[in-house]
Amino acid sequence: MHLRHEFHSQQTTTHLALTPLAVPPDSIEDTRLQRPILNAFAMTFDLHAYLQTAQFRVNTRLEYWFAKQNTTAAKLSEAMHYAVMNGGKRLRPVLAFAAAEACGTDASLANDAACALEMLHSYSLVHDDLPAMDNDALRRGVPTCHIAFDEATAILAGDALQCLAFEVLASSELPSMTTPIKLEMIRSLAVASGTHGMAGGQALDLAASGKLLDLHGLETIHRLKTGCLIRAAVRLGALAAHAPESSLLALDQYASALGLAYQVQDDILDVTGDTLTLGKQQGADAVLDKATYPRILGLQAAQALATHLHDQALQAIQGFGDGATPLRALASYIVNRRY
Ligand code: IPE
Ligand code: IPE
Ligand code: MG
Ligand code: MG
Ligand code: MG
Repeated sequence: MHLRHEFHSQQTTTHLALTPLAVPPDSIEDTRLQRPILNAFAMTFDLHAYLQTAQFRVNTRLEYWFAKQNTTAAKLSEAMHYAVMNGGKRLRPVLAFAAAEACGTDASLANDAACALEMLHSYSLVHDDLPAMDNDALRRGVPTCHIAFDEATAILAGDALQCLAFEVLASSELPSMTTPIKLEMIRSLAVASGTHGMAGGQALDLAASGKLLDLHGLETIHRLKTGCLIRAAVRLGALAAHAPESSLLALDQYASALGLAYQVQDDILDVTGDTLTLGKQQGADAVLDKATYPRILGLQAAQALATHLHDQALQAIQGFGDGATPLRALASYIVNRRY
């Protein structure tokens, strides 16, 4: 629990006096990042600036890929763009960038991997919000895709975003993207997204609504529905850096702990957050009688678990040098985030 305590005790530092980097004026991230939560890391690493730079980098590249989509299905294209360019935190892209850096290369080598991850993730959110799934009307502070457009368009936008993610990986011309690396990225992302990953986890999540799961069952759902894509984010970043197997393994241990922590914190925020800050409806899990960590463990134990997983993640990358500073800061950010 000390992390949370540490965070609260440092909230009053003046880190926000930072000069913001060049972020488009209409960027939701720009305003939503002006939060004291990031102050906890000001002493050691400027995570605020790091996140802004990474978000700007991936957003610019995402716009590049959308601009290349020369389609006659205008409404579908608009819905796809809406579902991605609507203020997500870009945590998966940021993790990919940080992993590439931990492996000694420039983050920009992971640009297309980052785009593919965000497209895949955004698709999963569009479908997660559908009436047949969580039936949510608010996402990233704006109406969900099926509310802003219509259900059929949202389903198709999700489908097409998933395809575009793999198209981006396959057709990337970045120097790091050799054919074997592309192939391994495509394989890793496909496995992380399918029955043994996100989609499988979502199916188990829906089936568990209203049921009392044991801890093992809950962990399986969370590791699949959220953890797998977080692991893929770190792996794709390291693959972009052509990292050796030993680094890939250590980074996967980091990502595995952090991926579970990410969803534990998501469950906690559903209880402790507020709708405006979250950008999605607070209390949605309770309404749907979802299996969550606070529900099964209690709030305090869920928070303690997030802290424990954070420590585990840090341990896994002990052998990395200063290049892993962003990964370390991101681990703290993930379990302290407020949205
Ligand atoms: C929300 O993901 C859904 C989960 C898998 C927990 P994020 O918290 O990363 O949401 P965005 O992308 O910032 O909107
Ligand atoms: C969603 O989990 C995980 C996905 C694969 C999208 P949640 O249903 O808890 O995500 P939120 O709370 O709606 O963002
Ligand atoms: Mg859900
Ligand atoms: Mg949901
Ligand atoms: Mg949730």
